Amino acid sequence: MRIYAAADYEEMSQRAASILAAHVITKPDAVLGLATGSTPIGTYDRLAAMHQKGMLDFSQVTTVNLDEYEGLSGEHPQSYRYFMNKHLFERINIPREHTFIPDGLAKNSAEECKRYTALLHSLKNIDIQLLGIGSNGHIGFNEPSDSFCRDTHVVMLAEQTRKNNSRFFSSPEEVPARAITMGIGNIMSAESILLLANGKNKSDALFAALFGPITPKVPASILQFHNNVTVAADEEALCAIREFTRWEGKIYDC
Ligand code: PGA
Repeated sequence: MRIYAAADYEEMSQRAASILAAHVITKPDAVLGLATGSTPIGTYDRLAAMHQKGMLDFSQVTTVNLDEYEGLSGEHPQSYRYFMNKHLFERINIPREHTFIPDGLAKNSAEECKRYTALLHSLKNIDIQLLGIGSNGHIGFNEPSDSFCRDTHVVMLAEQTRKNNSRFFSSPEEVPARAITMGIGNIMSAESILLLANGKNKSDALFAALFGPITPKVPASILQFHNNVTVAADEEALCAIREFTRWEGKIYDC
C-alpha cells in the first residue's frame, strides 16, 4: 500500500485524476470502478477538463459504480445515476451504454443485486476502483457489520451515514433507508484500488482502516489484504496516521 499525502483537496484531486487518466491513456478500453459523494467531485472536474482539452478519450472506457439508493430514479437529483451524469458522464465522450450503476427503481432489489453481480463478472476485471471512505469506515455502502458481504447486496444504511448524507437532501427523513451496493468481494477483485479521503472527519476512519485490525466493523480495513492500493489523502485526513507513524514526508509505503 502506498499513501500519498496531499496538502489539500485540490492536490488530492489532481493526484487522483492523474492516476485515473494514466489508466485511460495506457489502456483505452479500461474498466473504471467509480464512486460518488463529495470526495471525488474534484477528481471528476479534472478528468472532464482533460477530456475537453483533447487529452483523454473515453469512447472505449466502461464504468461501473459502487452503489445506488433504493427507491430513487436516475432523474432524482440525489440519485447516484444523476450525480454521475452531472459530474462526469455528460462532460466526457463515454457512450451512456458503457456506464453501469445499480437500478434503484428495480421492482425486485434482490434480483437487481444478482443482475449487477453477474454484470460485474461478465466484464473483464475492474482495472481501477475509486473509493471514498465513510466516517464510520464504510466503502461503497458496505456498512460496519459482523461479517463481510462478498457480492452486490441490499443494505440498511447506518444512522451515521444517513446523517452524513442528509446534507444533500432537504430533510434527514428524505434520505433513503436502504441502498444497493457492490460487495466487499466485488471491490477486492479490482486489479488496483485508489482510496481518497479529505477532511478531519475522515482521520479516525482512515487510521482505523489502514492501521487497525482487519474487521467488518471497519469495512475499509479489508483493503489491507489487497496488494495494489494507493491512498491519496489531504493533511487533515492524515492527521491520526501522521501522529501514529511519525511519518513526515509525501509518500509512505506500508
Ligand atoms: P463523501 O462520502 O465523499 O461524501 O464524504 C464518502 C463515502 O461515504 O464513501
